[in-house]
Amino acid sequence: MSTRANIPQHVAIIMDGNGRWAKLRGKERSEGHVAGMEALRRTIQNAAEAGVKYLTVYAFSTENWGRPKQEVEALMALICRGVELEADNLREAGVRVKVMGRRANFSAEVAEAIRSIEEQTAAGEQLTLILALDYSSRSEICDAVRNIARRVQQGELAVEQIDEHLISESLLSAGVPDPDLVIRTSGEYRLSNFLLWQASYAELYFTDVLWPDFDGEELHRALEAYAARERRYGLVK
Ligand code: FPP
Repeated sequence: MSTRANIPQHVAIIMDGNGRWAKLRGKERSEGHVAGMEALRRTIQNAAEAGVKYLTVYAFSTENWGRPKQEVEALMALICRGVELEADNLREAGVRVKVMGRRANFSAEVAEAIRSIEEQTAAGEQLTLILALDYSSRSEICDAVRNIARRVQQGELAVEQIDEHLISESLLSAGVPDPDLVIRTSGEYRLSNFLLWQASYAELYFTDVLWPDFDGEELHRALEAYAARERRYGLVK
């Protein structure tokens, strides 16, 4: 167990390896996602217990729409089922759920599930869980640039007023502190269009463990690695 000191306020996770986990067991990829959902459930609880205040998880990237139809449908069904089954538990545990991503492409059922879980958990103060769904960091940055340009064009904003704070507040993550620690599972070493602006100073932690096998011990290993690092933000000690 990590010490309470130096716990990251915001942990972001690229939950990777569900497909390989299933393949290793001769199962369908969708079964890997079901096991991944269990890992997410454990991680929410473990992160809250460790004192993490914001947990962002990459649950469905905009690129994921290009996966086989059957797999996309299985993931959408999992979102709906997960939300329905977990709403009470999350609310009782003080978890506030927010969804970050473009919402326009979801079916009415998924859109309603998202709206409902955000509403039901809005008062949670223990942990904010941010589900990145239909999320693409580059699209998010393009949208923000477009909005800022529009405000300049309308005379609402001067070019000189464009600074890092304004850009941060124009992103989907407005109001959420930047991630301190980004974890990626399954032995891949990339950010895959996830929180590119927000993770500028984040510590990165990679593990070979496949997401469905990620447990409390793995989280604490990541938190311990984080606690041992020295963050300098480009300065000298
Ligand atoms: C990456 O594994 C995982 C995903 C694309 C989906 C993540 C979804 C979950 C963890 C469970 C569902 C949670 C919600 C909220 C819907 P992969 O399929 O890319 O694995 P692979 O790289 O081994 O093929």
